[in-house]
Amino acid sequence: MPTQAIYTISDMRNLAEDVISMTFIAPEIARSAAAGQFIHIKCGHSRPLRRPISISDVSGDKLTVIFEVRGAGTRWLASRDIGRKVDILGPLGHGFGDTFSGGIIVVGGGIGAAPMLFAAKAAKRKAHSVTAVLGFRSQANVILTDEFDAVCDGLVTTTDDGTAGLRGNVSAPLEELLNTKKYGAVLACGPKPMLRAVAEMCAIHKIHCEISLEERMGCGVGACLVCACLMHNGERMSRVCKDGPVFDAKEVVWNG
Ligand SMILES: Cc1cc2nc3c(=O)[nH]c(=O)nc-3n(C[C@H](O)[C@H](O)[C@H](O)COP(=O)(O)OP(=O)(O)OC[C@H]3O[C@@H](n4cnc5c(N)ncnc54)[C@H](O)[C@@H]3O)c2cc1C
Ligand code: FES
Repeated sequence: MPTQAIYTISDMRNLAEDVISMTFIAPEIARSAAAGQFIHIKCGHSRPLRRPISISDVSGDKLTVIFEVRGAGTRWLASRDIGRKVDILGPLGHGFGDTFSGGIIVVGGGIGAAPMLFAAKAAKRKAHSVTAVLGFRSQANVILTDEFDAVCDGLVTTTDDGTAGLRGNVSAPLEELLNTKKYGAVLACGPKPMLRAVAEMCAIHKIHCEISLEERMGCGVGACLVCACLMHNGERMSRVCKDGPVFDAKEVVWNG
């Protein structure tokens, strides 16, 4: 069951320009959160709609989110300080599966790397071998590589402009990994074109693939249908907040 409560910010730091890691003391949410789930944050009294942010890590009573400042809501959140209180609802949504046989590849694009750290840690706890493939625009946007390095058996970083890691996007190193070994699953979060490329590559290699989708949200709990998307070969709608945000890639209608 999700909890709605006021929680205290216990840590806050900049990971890159306009990218903030924020930790809350939120025992009820931290204890029940699963990788791929998100929290819904009230960003000030003047904004009735909460903002969905994925859970990036949990440790004891604490949970961490990593967010990019994009508009008024995330700017408000970024202006809070350690010790301030924030109204949070969570954990929400359906996260990544955790019963795979074989090694796991986690793929993160940009800020989509954040939830994949929690996914990598969860897979590692289940004794899977975990390889991370992370893609960023440029060196200035690279985040969390030390954290992934500490958890994963392998880490490949790419940047579009080649200023850090391999030049290009995640597709080439992912393809190389899939050509080399049979993996149990690929789990991914990032921009939609990246997710689509990952899903198509996994379909060709017949590897189970789960992706985390982003959609504009209202209630966050399945009641308002703002986040409904055409899925399942176009046969029915799914609510990204409740049935997702993580879906089996085979269910996603990419042009829908
Ligand atoms: C399941 C889920 C998990 C997410 N996890 C993260 C994360 O870990 N880190 C991160 O930086 N961002 C994440 N996002 C995107 C984040 O929710 C938006 O960047 C944020 O809501 C923007 O709010 P704003 O007020 O700053 O921007 P504004 O553009 O001013 O927001 C206006 C409205 O649009 C909505 N909105 C705007 N952009 C998005 C978007 N991309 N997705 C959904 N709603 C949006 C806002 O919630 C708000 O209702 C996630 C989105 C979803 C759906
Ligand atoms: S945001 Fe209301 S149903 Fe998904």
